[in-house]
Amino acid sequence: MSQPTAVPPFAVISGAQVQTALQHREKQITDLVEATYRLHAMGDSVNPPSYFLRFPDRPNSRIIALPASIGGQVRVDGLKWISSFPDNVAAGIPRASAVLILNDHDTGYPFACLESSIISASRTAAMAALAADRLGRARPERPSRVGFFGTGLIARYIHTFLAGTGWSFDEIGVHDLSADSAAGFAGYLKQTGTPGRVAVHDGPEELIRSSDMVVFATIAAKPHVTDPSWLGHNPLVLHVSLRDLAPRSSSPRPTSWTTSSTA
Ligand SMILES: NC(=O)c1ccc[n+]([C@@H]2O[C@H](COP(=O)([O-])OP(=O)(O)OC[C@H]3O[C@@H](n4cnc5c(N)ncnc54)[C@H](O)[C@@H]3O)[C@@H](O)[C@H]2O)c1
Repeated sequence: MSQPTAVPPFAVISGAQVQTALQHREKQITDLVEATYRLHAMGDSVNPPSYFLRFPDRPNSRIIALPASIGGQVRVDGLKWISSFPDNVAAGIPRASAVLILNDHDTGYPFACLESSIISASRTAAMAALAADRLGRARPERPSRVGFFGTGLIARYIHTFLAGTGWSFDEIGVHDLSADSAAGFAGYLKQTGTPGRVAVHDGPEELIRSSDMVVFATIAAKPHVTDPSWLGHNPLVLHVSLRDLAPRSSSPRPTSWTTSSTA
C-alpha cells in the first residue's frame, strides 16, 4: 500500500546561509557538478530551453527563467530565476541576482526558496575548473600563466575554484575595460597572498599573448576578439561569457571550451 503523501515544509535560505554552506568546498562542489553532468549525459534530467524576459525600456537588462529536473539520488525539480542588470555595478551592487525554487519530486510542492547568485557563480566556476582540468590534462604541459579577460564577480569565483582544485600559476594576468575593476582584482589577489606574479594589462592582445590559459568573463554584447593570430600560441580558452570570440578567431584544435547556459 502506498504511504500517505505529506506536504513538505517550506524553507527560505538566505545568501549568508548559502555562502556558509558552500565556502571552502571548491573540490566537493566541482565533483558534484561533474556528477550532475554525468547524470544529464545519461538522460536522467529534463532541461528545457531557458526563457528570456527582456524590457524595451531597459534593453541591456534581462531576467532568465531556467526550469530543470534532475534524477539520480537527488530527484528534485525546480526553477532558477536570474536577473542581469549591468548598470547595478556602477551603483556598487552586483550585476546578477537570483533565486532558486525547489519542488518536491512526489508532490510537486515547492519546499525551498534559496538565494541563488552564489550558487550560480559557484556552479559556473566549478564547471570552468572542471573544463580546465580536463583540457589541461590533454596538453603536454599544464598551463602556468593564466589571463583573466574581464575581472568581475565570475572571474573571482573562477580564480577561487581553480585555486581550490589544485591550480597554481607562475603568473596571473588581468585585463578589464574598467581600470578600477582590473586594479581591484589585482589588489584582491595580492591581499589574499595568491602565489605568482600579478600583472595588469592595459590591452587585450597583450593579455592573451602572455597567457597559456585565458578566462573570458566579460559582459561584452558582441564579439571583440577577432584576430586569430592573438591565439596563435594555442592557449587553453575558457569562454565563460560566450560572446567575446568571433567564430573565425577560434582555434580549430579542441583546446577551448564554451558553455551554453549564462546568467
Ligand atoms: N556561462 C555561464 O554559465 C555563465 C554563468 C554566469 C555568468 N556568466 C557570464 O559571465 C560574465 C561575467 O559575469 P560577472 O557576474 O562577473 O559580470 P560583472 O559585471 O561582475 O563583470 C564583468 C566585467 O567585464 C568587464 N568588461 C565588459 N566588457 C569588456 C571587454 N570588452 N573587455 C574587457 N572587459 C570587459 C566589465 O568592466 C566588468 O568588470 C557575464 O557575461 C555572464 O553572463 C556565464
